[in-house]
Amino acid sequence: MKMAAASSAFDRAYPSYDRTGALDQLRAREYPTLDASGCTYLDFTAANLYATSQIERHLALLRDNVFGNPHSTNPTSSLASAYVARARQQVLKFFNASPDEWVVIFTTNASQALKLIGESYPFGPGGRYLLTFDNHNSVNGIREFARARGSTATYIPVVLPEMRVDEDDLARELDRADPVANNLFAYPAQSNFSGVQHPLDWIERAKARKWDVVLDAAAFTPTNRLDLGRWTPDFVVQSFYKIFGYPTGVGCLLARREALAKLHRPWFAGGTITVASVKADTYYLAEGESAFEDGTLDFLALPAVEIGFQHIESIGIDLIHERVRCLTGWLLDNLLPLRQTTGKPLVRLYGPPTTDRRGGIVTFNLYDALGRAIDHRVVEEGAAAANISLRTGCFCNPGGGEIALDLTGTELSSCFKQREHQTHLTIDDFRMCIDGKSTGAVRVSVGLITNLADIDHFIGFAKQFLGK
Ligand SMILES: Cc1ncc(COP(=O)(O)O)c(C=O)c1O
Repeated sequence: MKMAAASSAFDRAYPSYDRTGALDQLRAREYPTLDASGCTYLDFTAANLYATSQIERHLALLRDNVFGNPHSTNPTSSLASAYVARARQQVLKFFNASPDEWVVIFTTNASQALKLIGESYPFGPGGRYLLTFDNHNSVNGIREFARARGSTATYIPVVLPEMRVDEDDLARELDRADPVANNLFAYPAQSNFSGVQHPLDWIERAKARKWDVVLDAAAFTPTNRLDLGRWTPDFVVQSFYKIFGYPTGVGCLLARREALAKLHRPWFAGGTITVASVKADTYYLAEGESAFEDGTLDFLALPAVEIGFQHIESIGIDLIHERVRCLTGWLLDNLLPLRQTTGKPLVRLYGPPTTDRRGGIVTFNLYDALGRAIDHRVVEEGAAAANISLRTGCFCNPGGGEIALDLTGTELSSCFKQREHQTHLTIDDFRMCIDGKSTGAVRVSVGLITNLADIDHFIGFAKQFLGK
């Protein structure tokens, strides 16, 4: 009875959910193991799940064909090359990226794509690397390449409670590009910490002020359309398992041809040259994507990338988006009003409280009746006991975590400067150092086959902390 009342309140609040019923059928047909396992999977930002048909189609392809290393020109090699080319075309199609303008470079994941940019971008004295606090560590890591070559690295903060960037801060920093040096600006289209969707119109604003723009699309693309016919960052990075679960170990750097010409690879490898000579000590880099794909591509996994994109296209990214929007809204609507008997809120959210300009990532800490944070590890243990898969910690996004958890620069530096921590610091040392403050949060992330029962299960689980 209570369930029916809740579900009719949901229907009234999110009437468009009803139109996403195809995803319930898809879940039953294509993801049967999920319900059979009894697991409530709420960690879609870490990794998506794969459909049975994806692995069956991939298996059939491998079983029915003979694929050789694409670096040769023999028949088996040509077949592999044809499938690699098909995967490339499929990526371009998914992002509506014209092959005249865009190049797809296959990498192992988004992190390797970011490293390719970092090591090849012409950072130099006077140049700048500008990035939001809210970034994955693999974007943060580019600062080491920038500084090693004499450029500065500057962070733009995000502001609580919504964890968005203050537009004045952004405008001020964008105005500081050095007109005679190279300037690189990097931000995530969707935060993997707070779910905030940072505006895509920053791209044109930054480019108009002489910045090259890296858009980290890893957490955005699984549930949102990224139309590269409309938006023209210089570089986009992606891990494919985040969009369709399988295969892991393959991602890409999408680069505008013009921007790619600015990158200088620091070495050469098998596959990246037209000619290299030992005696003459010379090499000639290949053109386009080949110069960036070191060694042999994962040519047996790449056909599964085409299959994965076809799977998502057969569902429709807009339908996925709408489903995720409704479920995220319902989760927020139900978590945020929860109060301990003392009147203190159970939940402190780090991010936007409504579905406005945000995605399906909800990050928070729970608080007891006296207003003390409940350790995220306790919540994680409880969730595991309830067979709920979620993520806790800082999700490789330390800037987001430091702002959300109010860890000050002074506190962090005094911890890192302690003699015993000069070369080595474990996560437990770190917790001891900033004793009394939370070092992490709880993240629930929603994906294409999440259903209302998953969300209600989680809300019920959270309510168990009332009265604690
Ligand atoms: C926003 C964002 N960027 C980059 C990455 C890095 O992805 P990968 O670990 O697959 O390289 C992640 C992974 O969670 C992410 O969420």
